[in-house]
Amino acid sequence: MEILEALQVRKSIRGYKPDPVPKEIINQVLEVATRAPSAMNSQPWQITVITGKVLDEIRQENIKALKEGNTSAQEIIRKPFEGIYRKRQVDLALQIFQLMGIGRDDKEKRTQWMMRGFRFFDAPAAIVLSLDKSMNSTLALCDIGILCQSICLTALEFGLGTCIEDQGILFPDNLRKLAGIPESSLPIMCLAIGYPDWEFPANKLETPREALANNTRWVGFE
Ligand SMILES: Cc1cc2nc3c(=O)[nH]c(=O)nc-3n(C[C@H](O)[C@H](O)[C@H](O)COP(=O)(O)O)c2cc1C
Repeated sequence: MEILEALQVRKSIRGYKPDPVPKEIINQVLEVATRAPSAMNSQPWQITVITGKVLDEIRQENIKALKEGNTSAQEIIRKPFEGIYRKRQVDLALQIFQLMGIGRDDKEKRTQWMMRGFRFFDAPAAIVLSLDKSMNSTLALCDIGILCQSICLTALEFGLGTCIEDQGILFPDNLRKLAGIPESSLPIMCLAIGYPDWEFPANKLETPREALANNTRWVGFE
């Protein structure tokens, strides 16, 4: 797939076919995607690819932790969005709820939807990107972000869909306990990955973008 096409067709996939993704395919995706640049070529990413029984156990433990109000997620820096950023967040949720037929006041279905994210959207595999705690800096977070997009774009070439998601790493102790991520590492972001179920309503979402003119300043041009 051409670069411009890949950038334009990539979208977050939140419904997957149950078909497993062969290890060899994910390996090829990662071989290419880790050509991503990183600050001083530090390549700070630690990659954990999870599938099968272990992924199912993590899904279950995440839901259990959510229900119990577990607070292990506090080691991750998160701030509530405000102003226009909050508005975009709310707009996104409304668009998804509309596609999924979830009513404004249907708290139960909204909760079910939220839990879906903590279950990696029931994808057959998940990729967790972690940093050694000593590397947790703006530079390394930027590196992880670049790798995320590289994985998403490379995955397209193999017919795979992805959803970058922080929900999947909000209970890092579950990842440590079940997927062997060491205490010295901080899960930063994860991706659900699998073959898209194009019948799944939320996969039909086309998210808008602000007009470039509203967030770009051109300096020194004629
Ligand atoms: C850093 C990051 C974290 C995200 N976390 C979540 C998440 O936890 N749950 C979710 O459903 N989508 C998540 N997304 C997907 C965004 O909602 C999505 O990228 C955005 O709405 C734009 O839509 P698109 O990816 O389809 O273009 C995340 C994306 C990024 C880049």
